[in-house]
Amino acid sequence: MSNYHIKHLEEYYQVYRKSVRNPEIFWEEIAEEHFMWRKKWDNVLSWDFTKPEVKWFEGAQLNITENCIDRHLHIRGDKTAIIFEPNNPEEEAQHISYRDLHDKVCRFANVLKEQGIQKGDRVCIYLPMIPELAISVLACARIGAIHSVVFAGFSSSALATRINDATCKMVITSDGSYRGAKTIDLKGIVDEALKECECVETVLVAKRINTDIHMETGRDHWLQPLLDEAYHDCVPEVMDAEDPLFILYTSGSTGKPKGMVHSTAGYMVYSAYTFKNVFQYREQDVYWCTADIGWITGHSYIVYGPLCNGATTVMFEGVPSYPDFGRFWEIVEKHKVNQFYTAPTAIRALAKEGVEHLEKHDLSSLKVLGTVGEPINEEAWHWYDDNVGKRKAPIVDTWWQTETGGIMITPIPYATPTKPTYATLPFIGIQPALMDENGNEIKGNQVDGRLCIKFPWPSMARTIWGNHQRYKDTYFSAYENKYFTGDGALRDEVGYYRITGRVDDVIIVSGHNLGTAPIEDAINEHPAVAESAIVGFPHDIKGNALYGYVTLKETGESRNQNNLRKEINQIITEQIGPIAKLDKIQFTNGLPKTRSGKIMRRILRKIAGKDTSNLGDTSTLLNPEVVQDIMDNAL
Ligand code: PRX
Repeated sequence: MSNYHIKHLEEYYQVYRKSVRNPEIFWEEIAEEHFMWRKKWDNVLSWDFTKPEVKWFEGAQLNITENCIDRHLHIRGDKTAIIFEPNNPEEEAQHISYRDLHDKVCRFANVLKEQGIQKGDRVCIYLPMIPELAISVLACARIGAIHSVVFAGFSSSALATRINDATCKMVITSDGSYRGAKTIDLKGIVDEALKECECVETVLVAKRINTDIHMETGRDHWLQPLLDEAYHDCVPEVMDAEDPLFILYTSGSTGKPKGMVHSTAGYMVYSAYTFKNVFQYREQDVYWCTADIGWITGHSYIVYGPLCNGATTVMFEGVPSYPDFGRFWEIVEKHKVNQFYTAPTAIRALAKEGVEHLEKHDLSSLKVLGTVGEPINEEAWHWYDDNVGKRKAPIVDTWWQTETGGIMITPIPYATPTKPTYATLPFIGIQPALMDENGNEIKGNQVDGRLCIKFPWPSMARTIWGNHQRYKDTYFSAYENKYFTGDGALRDEVGYYRITGRVDDVIIVSGHNLGTAPIEDAINEHPAVAESAIVGFPHDIKGNALYGYVTLKETGESRNQNNLRKEINQIITEQIGPIAKLDKIQFTNGLPKTRSGKIMRRILRKIAGKDTSNLGDTSTLLNPEVVQDIMDNAL
């Protein structure tokens, strides 16, 4: 059907208009023609943003793994589904065909069942980027268990919080992981976490680094012997359209992480349809997204979207700098990658190392380049365009979120003219709105405001696990009848969108969302700390880095400040993970506060960014004297 693959700008506008004039007819056609259903829907869409409640394809029944695997078997059973590229370039890459994938997923699914996992149970997956990660995700989906993948860079304490929040019955992990030249003791982190998790009955352990690890009798099982014994076929569980498929945690500006719940049918339709169009994927192409499956990008655009389209998707275990900064380009050449999707922070890190790493490799296979996760600066955009795509491969700057499940604002390559730093136009079916501070929509072009979405799309998260009220408060309360993204954006003279960044207390560091509150909570646990405030400041590679203002209790003052800085970062590493470490820690005599006691982060942000020319009126603060003191001692 023509609507499935958009080829030029006029067609984009045509299809876009159709999708917003008649969303139900539009999505029904897509769902009908391109997916496999056990039973069709009774109703395409019902929605009410005041509750909020959104249902797509209600009454339909399906299993997403039949769409991702089974239906391809007779036409592309021998085609490679997953190329696994190991951390060590000396280790051979694995090519897993759709037929192999079917076998592996079925066996894994049978192991889950034998271990007592049933439809609706939550399974936590804490694995490095090895094939077992994709396979276990699909195995859960096969039997209707809800997977909750936790990025394997999170600490034991962060892992425990997530396991307990979803009351997971099982954890799937590995003995350890490789990360460049280092190995990481993943199982040790799981053991530590499980001291705080009573809900977990079983731990399945994949072997990756072959080290001696502790195995708790009765609880822990090596995966391989169970897989060897398992039956090779597993009848897929028939799921309702709105049954939860997975939970994925994202940081909030306050409180504990939010377990975003994604449903089955809508998520499948949208992730697959966006994949096909945003990357212009063709049957023979090899597609590579460098994200980790621990993030939404990996869920939608390494696993579900590509596999649903019968694509060949690369899974890379390692890091861009190992054994040297040419690794990405070596992989592109080796597997003849056609679509390459990465983050601005990776582009900046690679650009810093110079073009000599690129020049050694043949990158002529590249047809589309993607970026995601944070605003891309103009310099990085041009570097990517000039050196990687050689100005022949369009860049798709894709804006979206864990909550949106799929890409929301993006160029369609070879159709939408690109513009550096602009995510350009809404994807098919997406109705953005820019809002002013009084809650009114700002119409017309050459305007900026807060970015909202006015109409439901199939892959939007349905709730926050165990806390629907928080879902409502966070996303549907700021603006009536609209989903609020938390981002600011501008719309240029032709209607292109540029995302300007978060307008709340979430800071994006190297593409990772970090809430300020959990980091401050961690710091405040240090016995010498009275209070703290975290802000972001511009960083050449990470985009933003973290700047901490810390006030010590009197007893702490005499202590060596450098030791204190180390201890503070140590606590953050233990409670959240190394990604949340502070680049700068300034000890202060107090924090600027409003008369109601609220920390004035705006002022702290300006000082951290060395932009103190216009701090605004500080005389109304409770303690205006601290501002000068903080400025005098700024790092
Ligand atoms: O601020 C936006 C930024 O990342 C946030 C979502 O983060 P997360 O849920 O971790 O998902 C990241 C991967 C989809 C957004 O609210 N962001 C994401 N993509 C872009 C972006 N900012 C600017 N340009 C983008 N292309």
